Formats: sequence, structure tokens, C-alpha cells
Amino acid sequence: MVDEPLVLGIETSCDETGVGVVRGHTLLADAIASSVDEHARFGGVVPEVASRAHLEAMTPTVGRALTEAGVRFDDLDAIAVTAGPGLAGALMVGVAAAKAYALALGKPLYGVNHLAAHVAVDQLEHGPLPKPCVALLVSGGHSSLLLVPDVAADVRPLGATVDDAAGEAFDKVARVLGLPFPGGPHIDRAARDGRPDAVAFPRGKYDDGTYDFSFSGLKTAVARWIEARERSGEPVPVADVAASFQEAVVDVLVKKAIDVCRDNDVADLLVGGGVAANSRLRTLAAERCAAAGVRLRVPRPKLCTDNGAMVAALGAVLVTAGAP
Ligand code: KG4
Ligand code: ZN
Repeated sequence: MVDEPLVLGIETSCDETGVGVVRGHTLLADAIASSVDEHARFGGVVPEVASRAHLEAMTPTVGRALTEAGVRFDDLDAIAVTAGPGLAGALMVGVAAAKAYALALGKPLYGVNHLAAHVAVDQLEHGPLPKPCVALLVSGGHSSLLLVPDVAADVRPLGATVDDAAGEAFDKVARVLGLPFPGGPHIDRAARDGRPDAVAFPRGKYDDGTYDFSFSGLKTAVARWIEARERSGEPVPVADVAASFQEAVVDVLVKKAIDVCRDNDVADLLVGGGVAANSRLRTLAAERCAAAGVRLRVPRPKLCTDNGAMVAALGAVLVTAGAP
């Protein structure tokens, strides 16, 4: 068992080639190469384009991370890599690279769960995780609610999206509003000048007794509303639509996250994933957590989006826990 293990983490589940280096709970390097610009004209991530970009970015990004951390390959105690969930071809590039490094260096290799890594990363900013905690993970690829008694050994998925991920809904609605990809930050910005109650958009699965989410009905409702508006020849009030759509997403995300805390008697909620950068989600989560007596932890945006540091952080937890 190593107390403060030095771990290199590799993340390639989507469009970010992330390589991080951590020592225990201390972040030493967080190098990222993103292929997001190559996907922009398609309005979403194209798996084959992402895989090829990972291949090109892998070696230079590993090199940058080691330089930034001021460590050498030989110093590492372990290599960690995202094993899933994610795009199969993209994951394969990261796993192949990690296996090669581990084998060449004679270091142990840890294949880690991407969602658990989104939870573990918070330790780099806010210290050890409370046990248990609840995690709401929202990004372009996932919308999940997890009960986390122990991030090293016991992560229980309680709910997930049954269709579109929250970030995917932001991206698709941005597209119909004529905003660039990825749409989340643009909707967030546009919504600041709009009224969240301007249009009563549906809140899918709000009170259905599950911890699952559904955003495709909402996305369709927004598209229909805009079409009807355009047919009538009236201008589309972009700020109002953005604010009303955003409110519908955020309302249901926060409601179900607090439900999980209450139902399981858990006093700590962690919010992660790219959508955690959303200003309204942060505000509403803070308000409702305060009202419910729940402590809220949200890592800084760079740690919320996919990155290698989160994989290294979870790897370090596993090494410390003596995981095989
Ligand atoms: O975690 P991430 O970088 O990658 C994955 O999808 O796994 O998340 C990207 C997603 C995109 O869908 C993007 O539109 C969304 O996060 N996003 C936001 C905001 N910033 C990024 N959604 C809403 N509001 C934001 N401020
Ligand atoms: Zn992610």
C-alpha cells in the first residue's frame, strides 16, 4: 500500500484526450487536447473523428502532463485509464495506450469507471469525500444519480436518463435556436436576458417516483414551439426560450438529486460533468440544498468536464485502498 501514490490518469471516453497526474489528493498536472472543434459542424460528437483525434493527441498529451507535473515515467506508482462507459472506439485508444505504458514501465494498471472518476475528482479541490454522498453527474454523454457509500468500492447507480443526456438536450436545443455547438454555455448566456417562466415547457418524469430523467420530450416541445412561432411569422424570443428550457432541465435535475439525498438520509451532494458549469444549475442547487439541509460540493469547471486528472484521482484512491 502506497500512502500518497503518484498516478497518471488517461481519459478518452468522448472527445477530450485528458491526461492527469496526481499525488494522493494533490493535482500535479491536467493536460487536455479536445477535438470539439472538429465535431462542431456536425452538431454532436462523431465517434470515428474522436477516436482518430485521440490517437494523434495521446503521446504529446502524456508528454505535456509529465512535464507540467515535473515527474518522469519512472516515478509513477500506477497508470489509471477510463475503461467505460463511453464511445467504444475512443475508449479503446486510451486503454491501448495505458496498457502499453503499464507494460513498458512495469507499473500496475487500473481500469476505472468514468462516472466514479467524475465523483473522485472533487477530492482534488475539496478534500476527502464524505461517506456516503450523492452525486448528480450531468454532461453531454450522461445524466446520472449515484449513491456513493465509498468511491473506491461501492458506487450505486440509482437513476439515469432514459433518452437524451442533459448536455445533449442543451446542445440540440441550441441548434434549433441557431446557437453554436456545444450549446450549453450559449444557452446559459442567452438565458440571462430571458424569463424562466416565459414558456411552460414540460418537465419529463418529474414526479414519477423514479430517479430517472427524460429530456427528449422537452427537446421536442421546444422545437415544436419554435416552429409554430416561425410559422406565425413572429420572431423567436431566443432569451426567453433559452431561459425557460434551461429552467425545465435544471428544475428536474435538482429536484431528483435532493429526493435521493432525502430518501437515503444523505447530507452531501456532489454535482459534476460539463453541465455542472451551468450558472442556473449552480444557483438552484445551492438554494434547494440550503433549504433541505444538504451540503453542496461542485468542483471548478475544468475538473467538472472530462479530464485526465479525475481518472488519476480515482486511480490514487484505488491504490491507497489497496485495490487489486
Ligand atoms: O463533461 P463534458 O465536457 O463532456 C461530455 O459530454 O462528457 O460536457 C459537455 C457538455 C456539453 O453538452 C455542453 O453543452 C454542456 O456540457 N455544458 C453546459 C454548460 N457548459 C457545458 N450545459 C449547460 N450550461 C453550461 N454552462
Ligand atoms: Zn463525463
